[in-house]
Amino acid sequence: MRYLITGGAGFIGANFVHYLVEHTDAHVTVLDKFTYAASAASLADLPGNRLTVVRGDICDEGLVDSLTRSCHAVVHFAAESHNDNSLEDPSPFVRSNLVGTYTLLEAVRRHAVRFHHVSTDEVFGDLDLDDSTRFTEQTPYNPSSPYSSTKAGSDLLVRAWVRSFGVTATLSNCSNNYGPFQHVEKFIPRQITNLIDGVPPRLYGSGRNVRDWIHTGDHSRAVMAILEKGVSGETYLIGADGEQDNLSVVRELLRIFGRSEDWFEHVADRPGHDLRYAIDSSKLRRELGWEPGHHDFREGLEDTVRWYREHEEWWRPQKAAAEARYRSQEVAR
Ligand code: NAD
Ligand code: DAU
Repeated sequence: MRYLITGGAGFIGANFVHYLVEHTDAHVTVLDKFTYAASAASLADLPGNRLTVVRGDICDEGLVDSLTRSCHAVVHFAAESHNDNSLEDPSPFVRSNLVGTYTLLEAVRRHAVRFHHVSTDEVFGDLDLDDSTRFTEQTPYNPSSPYSSTKAGSDLLVRAWVRSFGVTATLSNCSNNYGPFQHVEKFIPRQITNLIDGVPPRLYGSGRNVRDWIHTGDHSRAVMAILEKGVSGETYLIGADGEQDNLSVVRELLRIFGRSEDWFEHVADRPGHDLRYAIDSSKLRRELGWEPGHHDFREGLEDTVRWYREHEEWWRPQKAAAEARYRSQEVAR
């Protein structure tokens, strides 16, 4: 089996590449533009005979065509992924998330190659804090940010290419991932690396916003289950019943670091900040037999803190630039 993994040098893509190398005999080709969000170091310890890394853009039609022609399946992780950046400059989001997905779809259509599209629960918009309902495969799309609206558009392109052109494709929409190799711009790694540096965590607004956390290893296993058993044209929601408000996550991290529970700073809220995400993943569990392996969020956070403590050489080069970007975004708000 030969897989083409787009965005394989980013957070979730790299974790999935590690999963493939460890659990299958497949050959993996990574296509990644190596934006600021990528890290070659995330793939550095993988065996060269199992992995080919190609530096390139998913919008490059010729390159995408030649790589797609020689693989059995494309798993599409590549995207501009950070909401805060999409509020500052939406243009790379429109290009990579929409034009990039279109370019890949045309290539898999030409070469009759299986496609899996990795997407987000943010396409559904948000839920009220006092609402107990969760997103299902039937929830209407209602994205809030430039990031989530481009992901919603890319999902719709995939569905149209299945229906209109007979492309063999599945889709998944997952909740917030945490774990190793996540860029320090994201909430959990930002606060962990702040705490390592003796800087208080930064909480947007009230901190009551809820995210539904899943360990990235469970996301990898779910994508594999969909590749092996998923039905073309179907969408699968991926989530592990991990709802936490942001304040609780910060307090858990402060406890892990032995700091007092109020050692954090409130900063200006994200414009249009989604209130709550929550996934009902019964379809994935019932039809494909997937179950999350990580059930204890505190334990998962402790492992993640340990990983960032032990891999400072991985994240340190990104940290100053990420914080400088946040300072300029805070001024703009
Ligand atoms: P990330 O930002 O860490 O990695 C994205 C990768 O895509 C980077 O390596 C980047 O260089 C690459 N990339 C960006 N534009 C490209 C282009 N034009 N051509 C080639 N490569 C390009 O993102 P992530 O958090 O790993 O997310 C991966 C996918 O999973 C995204 O599609 C995202 O929407 C989705 N997702 C993320 C989460 C989450 O919690 N992070 C949850 C659900 C779904
Ligand atoms: O739900 C899936 C989505 O999860 C993915 O599609 C996105 O690619 C991924 O980035 C993530 O989006 P969020 O916007 O939820 O993640 P982020 O890590 O940026 O923020 C998580 C929450 O923490 C959110 O409510 C904003 C808040 N936050 C974030 C940062 C960076 C803070 O309070 N302080 C911070 O410093």
